[in-house]
Amino acid sequence: MSNLSFNEVIKRRRSIYSLNHNVALSKKEINELVNFAMKHSPSAFHSQTSRAIILYDHHHLQLWDIVEDTLRSIVPPENFASTISKLDSFRKGIGTILFFENDDVIKSFEKSYPSYAENFSGWAEQSTGIAQFAVWCSLTHENMGASLQHYNPIIDSKVKEEWNIPTYWILKAQMPFGGVESRPNEKDFIPDELRIKVFIN
Ligand SMILES: Cc1cc2nc3c(=O)[nH]c(=O)nc-3n(C[C@H](O)[C@H](O)[C@H](O)COP(=O)(O)O)c2cc1C
Repeated sequence: MSNLSFNEVIKRRRSIYSLNHNVALSKKEINELVNFAMKHSPSAFHSQTSRAIILYDHHHLQLWDIVEDTLRSIVPPENFASTISKLDSFRKGIGTILFFENDDVIKSFEKSYPSYAENFSGWAEQSTGIAQFAVWCSLTHENMGASLQHYNPIIDSKVKEEWNIPTYWILKAQMPFGGVESRPNEKDFIPDELRIKVFIN
């Protein structure tokens, strides 16, 4: 475990595309980390709509094969080499976390709270984002790297078939993760005064 403060973890979390297998945690510890971060992430009315599947080893590689096969018919051939090299960087990680929202639960909350019915699907998007950020930061805290990918919805049917996932689990994001091979460059920020306004007294 690192000694990074909460703020240092938030700042250190970056999109890490260059991954390796150099990870100190066991798979069991990683599974617990993902479960803990998701379990304690908030959701509207505590609806707990977020779900995840963690793919390791040949399952992790199979996911990126599905993405590659699916993209092959969409990406122009002249751009495919760079697509492959991006997918290969994900393959070099140790696993991929698939984030879902459970539409069955969302619909049941829409029924139970009709006056908020039109909000629940938007709140589910926010819930998965919060869960993704919590997991991403937890991985960062354990010196792992990850990025957030969105090959849904074009891979949804193949993914559901491959891992026998219920139709009402809606795929929201894919997070390849592993050891950090290299970190990205520093990024620029808009001025702080554009981001928040403060009123006191
Ligand atoms: C909602 C959301 C969607 C994103 N989708 C993708 C994506 O599909 N592919 C990708 O490579 N990065 C994706 N990113 C990562 C952003 O590009 C990245 O977080 C941003 O450029 C800042 O860089 P950093 O993560 O290194 O701080 C996404 C980030 C967010 C918050």
